[in-house]
Amino acid sequence: MAISIRPMAAEDKSQFLVLWEKYNVFYKRTVAAAITDKTWERMLDPQTRLYGAVAVDSDLAPGANIVGFVTWLPHFYTATVEDIVYLHDLYVSEDVRNGGVGRSLINHVYDWCKQEGITSVYWHTQRFNHRAQLLYTKVANLTDFVQYKHDV
Ligand SMILES: CC(C)(COP(=O)(O)OP(=O)(O)OC[C@H]1O[C@@H](n2cnc3c(N)ncnc32)[C@H](O)[C@@H]1OP(=O)(O)O)[C@@H](O)C(=O)NCCC(=O)NCCS
Repeated sequence: MAISIRPMAAEDKSQFLVLWEKYNVFYKRTVAAAITDKTWERMLDPQTRLYGAVAVDSDLAPGANIVGFVTWLPHFYTATVEDIVYLHDLYVSEDVRNGGVGRSLINHVYDWCKQEGITSVYWHTQRFNHRAQLLYTKVANLTDFVQYKHDV
């Protein structure tokens, strides 16, 4: 496995869609194709502050070598002048898990933040997602916050 992380590009769409679908299955949710298209469009639009990166295994054939992705978005924070970043989605193909790809994708977001002068990244995970937390405890600190949600 020879992994590098790079920004998502237009030609990645078909490979991204395969992983995105698996990610949606993981979350037991359905995302309509029109919404997925909108998200894809936003990630590639330089005017929209939603970003995506993919993990590429150069040992695999071009066109079948994307093994993970991460998305993130910066936003205002009322207690700092600088934006902070919400790490939104993270997914690694099952067959390459526990090989450092997830860590590399998170580090890519950290590097992006440093370039942008942003000093804080945060994200959520389900309390029972122990597999993800095995990684998260190594790259971040668990906070005291819990999340509330209400659909209006
Ligand atoms: C969570 C996820 C992204 C992690 O990706 P990954 O590529 O497997 O993660 P990494 O290999 O970079 O990190 C694994 C770390 O966890 C540790 N780890 C993994 N399994 C472990 C185990 N059974 N016991 C102890 N530590 C373990 C590894 O030691 C590794 O740390 P290291 O880099 O210091 O060796 C991946 O499992 C995934 O896509 N899961 C499904 C979707 C998901 O949960 N997404 C996150 C939603 S918040």
